[in-house]
Amino acid sequence: PRNIIIDTDPGQDDAVAILLALASPEDVNVLGVVAVAGNVPLPLTEKNARIVCELAGRPDIPVYAGCDAPLRRKLVTAEHVHGKTGLDGPPLPEPTMPLQDQHGVDFIIETLRREPAGSVTLVPVGPLTNIATAFQRAPDIVGRVAEIVLMGGAYFEVGNITPAAEFNIYVDPEAADIVFKSGAEIVVMPLDVTHKALTSAAWIDEMRGLGTPVGDMVAAWTDFFERFDMEKYGSEGAPLHDPCTVAYLINPGLFSGRRINVEIETTSELTLGMTVADWWGVTDRPANAMFMGDVDRDGFFALLTERLKRL
Ligand code: BDR
Ligand code: CA
Repeated sequence: PRNIIIDTDPGQDDAVAILLALASPEDVNVLGVVAVAGNVPLPLTEKNARIVCELAGRPDIPVYAGCDAPLRRKLVTAEHVHGKTGLDGPPLPEPTMPLQDQHGVDFIIETLRREPAGSVTLVPVGPLTNIATAFQRAPDIVGRVAEIVLMGGAYFEVGNITPAAEFNIYVDPEAADIVFKSGAEIVVMPLDVTHKALTSAAWIDEMRGLGTPVGDMVAAWTDFFERFDMEKYGSEGAPLHDPCTVAYLINPGLFSGRRINVEIETTSELTLGMTVADWWGVTDRPANAMFMGDVDRDGFFALLTERLKRL
């Protein structure tokens, strides 16, 4: 299994990503979960991360709090999508597992320095503040990262928080810029992919049919989360954005894309946080990311069902 650190702002779809990882020990070994401010403020995302680990029966997973605000901007949140708690839907239990004392950024730095070079994969599924802060503070760790498999950005699908930008990149564009310029191997799951990873009524029934607390919770979260996209985009279901990253680590063959140059817009007011993706190779800027474009939807949901029923 690959050693991974999940960097997250749960978020119902973040929660499913964490559950998928914890259900897949033969593929990924979760060294820790680091919370970041994003969908909701940090005190809620770190709490939600603990709720999810406990739901998976894994109170032993160390959960850390990372940065509580973007590098240079005021935090923008997404309660309009995820609800006031970030995990709205069913009533949530109070977590009893502890939050680690160490700062999440220090945990990232320390882990990358301690583990053999090239053996730790970062899985950021929220704004990139923690990762960028770690890279700035400890440039020596960049070359030790195996790969960064992140959810963020968009090309053909353009934006979901502004007409030009996807939420995770928009919230902290300076952080995204640092990460995309870092030289680390990057795999991107943009909206172009995640808007194809749409839940269906049949799949939600399947989750409920598992007859487990995890199945019930995932079904209820999806019901809640779905409302937003179905009303706004008239889409058939809810996009399970963040689980695409973990599914890629388990079965990369579910996804296809191109290795291209991706730059982050950090100055324009109109297109702030846009991922300028050179999909057609019209510049000679060097490729810095594997930018995914498609997913085998049935294969993705079959994988989710197969794994989540283990919890
Ligand atoms: C991303 O934004 C968040 O609201 C989701 O959790 C996902 O990471 C999608 O744009
Ligand atoms: Ca997220």
